[in-house]
Amino acid sequence: MHIQAFLDAQFSAALAAAGAPAGTPAAVRPSAKREFGDYQANGVMGAAKALKLNPRELAQKVVEALGQPGFAEKVEIAGPGFINVHLKPEWLAAQAEAALADARLGIAAASEPQTIVVDYSSPNLAKEMHVGHLRGTIIGDSLVRVLDFLGHKLVRQNHVGDWGTQFGMLIAYMKRLQAQGGDALSMELSNLEVFYREAKKAFDELPGFADTAREYVVKLQSGDAECLHLWQQFIEVSLSHCEEVYQELGILLTREDLMAESAYNDDLDNVIVDLEKQHLLTVDQGARCVFLDEFKGKDDAPLPIIVQKSDGGYLYMTTDLAALRYRNNQLHADRVLYVIDVRQGLHLQQLYTLGHKAGFARPEMKLEHVSYGTVMGTDGKPFKTRSGGTAKLADLIAEGEKRAYEVVKAKNPELPEDELREIGRVVGVSAVKYADLSKSRTSDYIFSWDQMLAFEGNTAPYMLYAYSRVMSVFRRAGLDESALSGEMRLSEPAERYLALKLVQFEEVVRSVAAECYPHYLCAYLFELAGLFMSFYEACPILNAEEAVKQSRLKLALLTAKTLKQGLALLGIETLERM
Ligand code: ARG
Repeated sequence: MHIQAFLDAQFSAALAAAGAPAGTPAAVRPSAKREFGDYQANGVMGAAKALKLNPRELAQKVVEALGQPGFAEKVEIAGPGFINVHLKPEWLAAQAEAALADARLGIAAASEPQTIVVDYSSPNLAKEMHVGHLRGTIIGDSLVRVLDFLGHKLVRQNHVGDWGTQFGMLIAYMKRLQAQGGDALSMELSNLEVFYREAKKAFDELPGFADTAREYVVKLQSGDAECLHLWQQFIEVSLSHCEEVYQELGILLTREDLMAESAYNDDLDNVIVDLEKQHLLTVDQGARCVFLDEFKGKDDAPLPIIVQKSDGGYLYMTTDLAALRYRNNQLHADRVLYVIDVRQGLHLQQLYTLGHKAGFARPEMKLEHVSYGTVMGTDGKPFKTRSGGTAKLADLIAEGEKRAYEVVKAKNPELPEDELREIGRVVGVSAVKYADLSKSRTSDYIFSWDQMLAFEGNTAPYMLYAYSRVMSVFRRAGLDESALSGEMRLSEPAERYLALKLVQFEEVVRSVAAECYPHYLCAYLFELAGLFMSFYEACPILNAEEAVKQSRLKLALLTAKTLKQGLALLGIETLERM
């Protein structure tokens, strides 16, 4: 159950009964400090102001209207008119029991599911995936998992860049290698990073090569069979690299989610025709543009949104307009999340405004930029490899697994090799993912192996260890979790704090879904793990008398389930033992 929403409804009713106008917000929030109770209602002050009443007197009336509610042990007025609620331990225990008895931990699936499109990962296929794709891929995937869990209809869209001038250069280079005969081509394609670099070098240095490249762009766009064939061959190699990375990282994206830029090629003319029909187009130095009052450049100069170049070529924006229309007309999205680097903010604002204006998106269709910052190196500059190159994602993951293996081996030298490898894999991948997800996505963060592989602090190793520690209680006692009986009773403060945190799981999951900040969930799980550790130290489990033991085991079990579910929503695997 969503405790905050439940209490908010109770207090809203009490406010109305005390004379506040209907719809006055009760503003119930979790209390910032333990001495202020578990939740506080902050809406009285605002209501009193509107009614010209003394806030403490109004608060008194609200408390009277509330009567003796079943959920509260104590309701007290504090400061200028806050109302602090101390929840009744029996009531809390009943909520926790209900969560434990439910496979969804008490979180109901949406009664009116939305269709939500999540555009994420979306790398440019000219190069191999690198560290710049890490955040969008991980954050997008976690949001998909959260929204899916809440019962919405999710449509993943991998809007990969597979079109444009770069591909002319790559095809020209492929033809060169082909002419050399043998397996020159397939050999070079086995390392896309090198392939791209060599092609670029030829483009910059070889006489005539750049012209050939431009020719191929034109040929490709006019549907020349040979160019298309080479292009497809390249795309296939590049996509399978992406798929390996997705596999390693445990990302949900598959071929079915692929909706590449080229998929919209046939619709780009229509986009222009539609904009024209609505008198939105202006020709400026031969290019077709849209000028909107919302976007101004320096000194208030009009800022064009270019949709077709003077040579007839289309742009990133044109494709995005076509994609938006597809998401509206074909996918019937209620909400679209664009999980994209913060630097594309202006592009997306222009897309949304123009898209709505041109009717490519229904007015009620919500378009959100889930933006994220840059992964930085310890030197405070964008992250690079030690030799100063772009860090390939595949290499980064491999290094994470290797380092994690060593850390785990140092801690548990007695474990068999294959188990060490498996733990190393899970810890390494989780460390990279969790380090990203646990930071607010809008800020840059520093990529540090030492930090992400530490067993202390808000890290994957700590979380995985905390989970395995809870599970070890059951393992050591040879207990079957389904055999727990009796009532949960919360008598020690540590039990109460843990239970309160546990029943707040739904609140945090829903706020991640609403605001698209996975780090809320990480912070919650970290606090939960900490409260479990305090509980574990303060409250003996297996040596307690039977009824207490059963109750504490239930708390432990709900903790394990919540940690596991929470980590799964982040896309992180758990280990029963480590
Ligand atoms: N391929 C683009 C890039 O690498 C990201 C595409 C994001 N999605 C979109 N609909 N624009 O920057």
